[in-house]
Amino acid sequence: MITNMHRVHIATFFTPDSPPAREESSESTANALRDLYAYPRETLRPWVRVNFVSSIDGAVSVDGVSGALGTPADRLVFETLRELADVVLVGAGTVRAENYGGARVGAEGRRRRVASGMPEVPPIAVVSARAHLDPHSRLFTDTEVAPIVVTCTDADPARVRALADAGARIVTAGEGQVTGDGLIAALEDLGLRRVLCEGGPSLFGQLTADDAVDEVCLTTAPVLVGGTAGRVATSPGTRVTAMTPAHILTDTDGTVLTRWVRLPRP
Ligand SMILES: NC(=O)c1ccc[n+]([C@@H]2O[C@H](COP(=O)([O-])OP(=O)(O)OC[C@H]3O[C@@H](n4cnc5c(N)ncnc54)[C@H](OP(=O)(O)O)[C@@H]3O)[C@@H](O)[C@H]2O)c1
Repeated sequence: MITNMHRVHIATFFTPDSPPAREESSESTANALRDLYAYPRETLRPWVRVNFVSSIDGAVSVDGVSGALGTPADRLVFETLRELADVVLVGAGTVRAENYGGARVGAEGRRRRVASGMPEVPPIAVVSARAHLDPHSRLFTDTEVAPIVVTCTDADPARVRALADAGARIVTAGEGQVTGDGLIAALEDLGLRRVLCEGGPSLFGQLTADDAVDEVCLTTAPVLVGGTAGRVATSPGTRVTAMTPAHILTDTDGTVLTRWVRLPRP
């Protein structure tokens, strides 16, 4: 599926037990990827990892969806990150655009998860201020575990009720908008500490502006697409957060996979 993924650089800052730097093809195996992307063992609060793919020229979608940007290496990392997560967090815009269903984990992945005390499959948690989701969509009909909907106190109660009736766990966090702190607290209350945020740009932007992002896994797909698609994070406010590279992987097709971690909070 993937050939000659090659580690260019590794910092062992947050994962001191990760394998030593060796430039061997075995590093491209799924085992090595699980080690490379291991969550930090002990953190004071949930660890928020964000995963995105973009084109070389910064587009996050082609014709409104991200599928055309996927490469074998990106898909392998995408699946690895889901296997390692307690919860897959995503904004409602992405769920609507990409028609999200529940996460899928293969037999071996399930075995590994259960062996490490996790449920077989992580739930999808959707952030939607307006609770604006279709209760008949795949999010509710094509999933093994109940989705979580994180919404606001001022969401339309009829919509919230319809999502609950469709099987969602409803979590209310804030009014008008869910803040980074509110979101993290809500997930922690549910015991969900290894957070994998799959976007989209509005949610990532909000988390960035709220200083809630601990890690970014960014794939650059080896394509230019032009067009009007936006960048990976957009928010009304800006905030500069220093990050340090944990590793950079490349695949023979030109895919570049980077992992960036936030410097420790004071
Ligand atoms: N390349 C990639 O890796 C990647 C990844 C993800 C998405 N995408 C692309 O990004 C596009 C979607 O972008 P987007 O910015 O609309 O995505 P988004 O962040 O997933 O969705 C925005 C919506 O999510 C809800 N939301 C986000 N942050 C919130 C907050 N802090 N509090 C309350 N609600 C919040 C709101 O939903 P309500 O309107 O329901 O209140 C908002 O309208 C799609 O084209 C998708 O394909 C690409």
